[in-house]
Amino acid sequence: MQNIYDNPTFFDGYKRLRERTDNANVLFETPALLSLLPDLTGKAVLDLGCGAGDHCVEFVRRGASRVLGIDISEKMLALARDKNADARVEYRHLPMEELDALEGPFDLIASSLAMHYVADFAAVAGQAHRLLGAGGLFVFSQEHPLTSCFTTGERWTKDEAGNKLWANISNYSVDGERLSSWFVDGVKKYHCTFSTIVNTLVDAGLYRGEADRARARRGHAGGVPGPVEGPAA
Ligand SMILES: C[S@@+](CC[C@H](N)C(=O)[O-])C[C@H]1O[C@@H](n2cnc3c(N)ncnc32)[C@H](O)[C@@H]1O
Repeated sequence: MQNIYDNPTFFDGYKRLRERTDNANVLFETPALLSLLPDLTGKAVLDLGCGAGDHCVEFVRRGASRVLGIDISEKMLALARDKNADARVEYRHLPMEELDALEGPFDLIASSLAMHYVADFAAVAGQAHRLLGAGGLFVFSQEHPLTSCFTTGERWTKDEAGNKLWANISNYSVDGERLSSWFVDGVKKYHCTFSTIVNTLVDAGLYRGEADRARARRGHAGGVPGPVEGPAA
């Protein structure tokens, strides 16, 4: 497994990007992820790839009684302990590949933009399922598969002036390792198609709660719904 965030050049570049107020985390990812969270009052939370711990302290602000943030990068953890220290948050050096070292149960397992660094998503999903208590939730974000798939050719189609018109995709249907350049060359990420992501979650048992809720709603409405009325002819 690669620990690219401890590369000094990568770390400095990422830290500068993350400190901006117009990065994708601030504009898109964090609001979307937080909007999916349940009430965290008194809950135990595990954050996979917690980075500088911004989400860990947000979970505490939302009422969590205990948060464990794990990360593979000592530099990111040092930043978290410096910037986001809280008596209810523990930051621990542990790769996601070694979740068998942890004991649950957790009420929420969250992960922001870290899952695409893991080669064996099925193993992490299986461990997440083991670590969740009854009614627990696994909420995560990752790099979009239409982005992570890119392998060969020109990344961008540009106009004559060199302006980017659109991003190109390649090898979408081939899951697996990709090497990219982001602050440094040789950054390893792992592409999964949407169907791989969904099927992996289903196989790990992480979709069960959603199916149960769908049944409950239907029952509550008074049985199997009839045909939908179309517009009057
Ligand atoms: C894009 S940063 C996101 C940090 C944080 N979740 C956030 O949203 O601010 C990805 C983080 O995942 C961590 N990471 C990458 N591979 C990991 C692994 N195998 N196990 C644990 N953490 C990992 C990196 O060190 C980095 O801190």
